[in-house]
Amino acid sequence: MRIVDIIDKKKRGFELTKEEINYFITSLVNGSMPDYQASAWLMAVWFKGMNEDETAYLTEAIINSGEKIDFGDLAKQIVDKHSTGGVGDKVTITLIPLLAAAGIPIAKLSGKGLGHTGGTIDKLESIPGFSCNLTIDKLKEQVERIGVAIGQQTGNLTPADGKLYALRDVTATVDSLPLICSSVVSKKIAAGADNIVLDVKYGSGAFMKTPQKAVELARLMVKTGKKLNKQITAVVTSMEEPLGRAVGNSLEIIESIEFLKGNIVTGDIAELTYDFAVLALMLTGKFLDEETARNYLQELIHSGKAIDKFRELIAAQGGNTKVIDDYSQFGDVKYKTEIPAKNTGYVKKIDAYKIAYGCKLLGAGREKKTDSIDYSVGVFLNKKTGEKVSEGDILYTIYSNSEEKTSLCKEYCDEAFEFCSDKPEKTPPIYEIVK
Ligand code: URA
Repeated sequence: MRIVDIIDKKKRGFELTKEEINYFITSLVNGSMPDYQASAWLMAVWFKGMNEDETAYLTEAIINSGEKIDFGDLAKQIVDKHSTGGVGDKVTITLIPLLAAAGIPIAKLSGKGLGHTGGTIDKLESIPGFSCNLTIDKLKEQVERIGVAIGQQTGNLTPADGKLYALRDVTATVDSLPLICSSVVSKKIAAGADNIVLDVKYGSGAFMKTPQKAVELARLMVKTGKKLNKQITAVVTSMEEPLGRAVGNSLEIIESIEFLKGNIVTGDIAELTYDFAVLALMLTGKFLDEETARNYLQELIHSGKAIDKFRELIAAQGGNTKVIDDYSQFGDVKYKTEIPAKNTGYVKKIDAYKIAYGCKLLGAGREKKTDSIDYSVGVFLNKKTGEKVSEGDILYTIYSNSEEKTSLCKEYCDEAFEFCSDKPEKTPPIYEIVK
């Protein structure tokens, strides 16, 4: 078999066999295939797609590229949640300590920022000292000891996804249904949980731009799970505007801490976190009715148990727990620029992609896989969709370390906002649940 023939076959739109896909993934992981061939193949898949069988073969090959975690009997209780990526999407960070505080074990493999979207790993690693570089043994030991661990797909867990993920990010091949499906589903299956909940996003800040496309992805993920004997629940949610108010790594951790301390009780972050947490509690059979589950979760926040669990997680993964009570521990930026509104009315829309692009220009994301990122920069949305604005009110704030980057970011953020004179209708965060 030759890699060039596999690329050529896909380029012409033919179906690849299981053996060809296995050969491609083996060559990727053992280093015998150069990055330029892998990149050409990714682009061929982007253009020609893959059918359900090929997607399942690819997912299985990625799972088999490394070790799998076996939690034994504990797997039945473990929940794993993953988002297909968004802007300001910190729901994993708010959800995980909350579920762990509820006694639901969480073992999670997350990713770094991809395309314009932020990555949970980057956000968590903005906490000084925090590392997601866990061995499988350490991940297992930590889940058994404190009920929660967050690792990344480096090392020997789905190493093929680690390589493909980094290449897709810099070859404009992220937004492909079979590539997203295999990347997410392989990590989830390899991580060993029995209860998998996926947040499949649509909108300007997501890889899938329409709810219909996101439902298509959600169905593909659920079907791929079934082919590989895993029950997956996929929740299709809106990513038209950034989630919450903070976009940027440490800013998002601060917002998550505020939620876990009980200081954010309304808005999209609170709604989605509770919706996902309730779903997880019901999936694991811990609660049978929604309202009791919701009240129980709210109590975990108010009693301080959720933030205490986050503190425990930070300490277990080497992070500085002082960040919870003292945000200056994240380090500060040189420039905080408050941008006033020029209009009076209501915010009609905030284009998530434009805000993400502005943040990337500040240094919050990567251009190349080897780039380092500036954890402290980002944008804080003082106003969100549906909120009233008067001329001169602060619309948003740019956190930056360079005046030049501030003005570049401002151009994109200004364009992101649209206004109207009547209060716009609210879109519910959940569009559809696919099982
Ligand atoms: N998250 C992943 O892990 N992989 C993707 O391809 C997209 C989002």
